Amino acid sequence: MMDFSPRGVYVAGVNQSIVILLGPPGSGKGTVSERLRAEGYTHVSTGDILRAAVKAGRPEGLEAESYMKRGELVPDEVMIRIIRQAFSSGKDMSRCLLDGFPRTVPQAERLEQMLADLGRSVARVVFLECPEDALVVRLSGRRICRQCGAGYHVQFIPPRKADVCDTCGGELYQRADDREETIRNRLGVYNRQTECLVAWYEKKALLVRIDGRNTPDRVAGDVLAVLAKAR
Ligand code: AP5
Repeated sequence: MMDFSPRGVYVAGVNQSIVILLGPPGSGKGTVSERLRAEGYTHVSTGDILRAAVKAGRPEGLEAESYMKRGELVPDEVMIRIIRQAFSSGKDMSRCLLDGFPRTVPQAERLEQMLADLGRSVARVVFLECPEDALVVRLSGRRICRQCGAGYHVQFIPPRKADVCDTCGGELYQRADDREETIRNRLGVYNRQTECLVAWYEKKALLVRIDGRNTPDRVAGDVLAVLAKAR
């Protein structure tokens, strides 16, 4: 398939890849994305974009903040605007990982439409499977670097020095929505509003299931193997 990057540069179809990382909160979407960035993928995390917008006091952040605090989904129209901006930002989106988008059928439909307008389509949807009790342990133990955004886990991926980032020495913090009652709500929201996308993408023969219970390196390796086959 012939294609053009948002910069207008022609790129052979073989280099074009839009990959959706689908999975419940804590399934490892962000962790896999961090590891795949080294392979030349642009990481688009709607959660990260929203948190940055909240911090900067931008309008979409103000609109999103109360939903995020409760662990509810931000309205579709806000999210679709954000994804449109990502694709027209001038970043190289020829190979990208969509982490946390879409999360509802209307979001998936609008994404499909937007990509068709750009002459593009989703190459693969990688579904990270992980049991709910493990998700709660993962999320409640997650820590993030305030400075560079690197992800850790107090038990599974601990920093060398407590609360200090190995990479940049920044302070590690816990996300406000990683408290147990909010985690439970986020998992409920996922089951009610997002899980249906598994069947939606399965019908389109785009979905690949990956065992998200393995170590982060193994999961990232399995995802890479799937993406290599998709080219
Ligand atoms: P978002 O930031 O996307 O949160 P999420 O989907 O709940 O996902 P997480 O980031 O919590 O989990 P993850 O799967 O990335 O796991 P991670 O790799 O970090 O969204 C936040 C909020 O924004 C939403 O609640 C909503 O309000 C809003 N929002 C965002 N997108 C939206 C949309 N499209 N529509 C509407 N609203 C939207 O790993 C978690 C922990 O586990 C880490 O500590 C990690 O170190 C550890 N870990 C990861 N992998 C492994 C492994 N294999 N083994 C052991 N530990 C592991």
